[in-house]
Amino acid sequence: MRPVALRTRRLVLDEPMPYDAEAVTRYCQDPLFEQYLTTPWPYRRADADAFLGVHVPESWATGAELTWALRLAHGSRLLGVISVRSGEHEIGYWIGAEHRGAGFMSEAAIAVAEWALGGGIRHATSLRWRAVAGNVASAKVARAAGFLRVHAEDATVPTRDGRGTLPAWHAVRTAPADPAAFASWADILGEAA
Ligand SMILES: CC(C)(COP(=O)(O)OP(=O)(O)OC[C@H]1O[C@@H](n2cnc3c(N)ncnc32)[C@H](O)[C@@H]1OP(=O)(O)O)[C@@H](O)C(=O)NCCC(=O)NCCS
Repeated sequence: MRPVALRTRRLVLDEPMPYDAEAVTRYCQDPLFEQYLTTPWPYRRADADAFLGVHVPESWATGAELTWALRLAHGSRLLGVISVRSGEHEIGYWIGAEHRGAGFMSEAAIAVAEWALGGGIRHATSLRWRAVAGNVASAKVARAAGFLRVHAEDATVPTRDGRGTLPAWHAVRTAPADPAAFASWADILGEAA
């Protein structure tokens, strides 16, 4: 598959490139990534070079994982990353600490979900989201993007080394979004947006 660029009100989502390595390396030093993501830890420049130079283009080509950079529409600097993996069409995302809380990831997740379920990913009828339990910021993004929280029998995610599991929250986004989606988060996020 060839990389697809998406536009939102404030952002351009396009392919993360090798020249983004310095920004990616810097953002990925965030201790929250150790807690909530499976990105390498400690994170080195070589990890960013391999991610941007090999993983991103190869996985666009095979369709195994579609990865976008979040950039401001009027600038080229990478703010964060969002992706959808093939198989269960799982969405994943992170944004550099200094760009959080401005609604950027919610905006990106809505665009990616609508594109993927609107025919961008052939035969995709739903998207999946999982996060380590307690990751409130990520849950709020999933809620904003129309995901329905589900109570999976195995409510876990694998640890970084793949040997263990952590308690997790799970959710699913269908097209159109389930009318009960927003309310399904009330027990962990409260009633209000
Ligand atoms: C999760 C993450 C991508 C959210 O990015 P963001 O750009 O701050 O998200 P938004 O600005 O769209 O905020 C979404 C909501 O979360 C809220 N929020 C942002 N940071 C928050 C925090 N630390 N704690 C609680 N709420 C937070 C926002 O106020 C907003 O709330 P609203 O929906 O009520 O308006 C970002 O916090 C991040 O990169 N975290 C580390 C990596 C990670 O955990 N990724 C997800 C793995 S499943």
